[in-house]
Amino acid sequence: MAATPRSAQSAGAATPAQNAPAELQLQMRGIVIENVTKSYLDARNITVQALSTIDLEIASGEFVCLIGKSGCGKTTLLNIIAGFVTPSTGRVLVDGERVTRPGQGKGMVFQQFALFPWLTAIGNIDFALKQRNLDKATRQTLAAELIGLIGLKGFEEKYPYQLSGGMQQRVAIARALAIDPKVLLMDEPLGALDELTRDTLQAEILRIWAAHRKTIVFVTHSVTEAVRLADRIVVMSAGPGRISQIIPISIPRPRLRTNAEVVALEEMVQAALG
Ligand SMILES: Nc1ncnc2c1ncn2[C@@H]1O[C@H](COP(=O)(O)OP(=O)(O)O)[C@@H](O)[C@H]1O
Ligand SMILES: [Mg+2]
Repeated sequence: MAATPRSAQSAGAATPAQNAPAELQLQMRGIVIENVTKSYLDARNITVQALSTIDLEIASGEFVCLIGKSGCGKTTLLNIIAGFVTPSTGRVLVDGERVTRPGQGKGMVFQQFALFPWLTAIGNIDFALKQRNLDKATRQTLAAELIGLIGLKGFEEKYPYQLSGGMQQRVAIARALAIDPKVLLMDEPLGALDELTRDTLQAEILRIWAAHRKTIVFVTHSVTEAVRLADRIVVMSAGPGRISQIIPISIPRPRLRTNAEVVALEEMVQAALG
């Protein structure tokens, strides 16, 4: 989805698109991260550069994993895409619209589930549906569909403390999907779960992605996870945070570890992480 630089466009009669304001010319589907940097002030008022220049385009419907060691700026980059953090320079566009705040069709899933403890599973999902201006009957239908999608039929009326970690994260995923986002942003969503649950949820996320074709940006520090999930792995390194390598994966899913290609790719990503 690389755009032709305007300077490289052929001479001659301008097309309507070329006459459009710059903002409209960039109206491509997917995520465009352009010249983004981020510096924070630490507790002693010293500037910490978390991200040096990041340029990245993510196609609509693409599954991208951001991987890198702790502190390399993965969460910062994800939060900039989400609109929780303002970049120091540059900008992010989602389907051509500049990100200026959370919402705007972006669903977020955090490592620590972040459900409302005073709402049931279905209540948490309905909370998100209420932001869509739907009538009650439609909300009930959609909530039931989402509960089915994440495999929690029978647990609708349970409160978060009555659910396992894996179940809570399923509810959090359903809540993120309830706003019908164009993009799903996930920050180490399976990081707090045991390995078996993690394995099951990876498969669930792939199934949901295949069915709904959301654009997914998924932060992880697990090489195995990134290789199992992603269309492209974006490897980041620290000091300050930057993209050190982008690794496309064309191995068909499911990517089993009995497949030598999968293992070779894991080794390649591991090497890229240094
Ligand atoms: N709110 C903040 N204030 C100051 N420094 C921050 C803040 N958030 C992150 N940082 C710093 O920015 C760098 C990148 O952090 P982060 O994006 O959380 O990395 P990662 O998610 O890859 O572990 C780290 O050095 C971290 O200490
Ligand atoms: Mg992080």
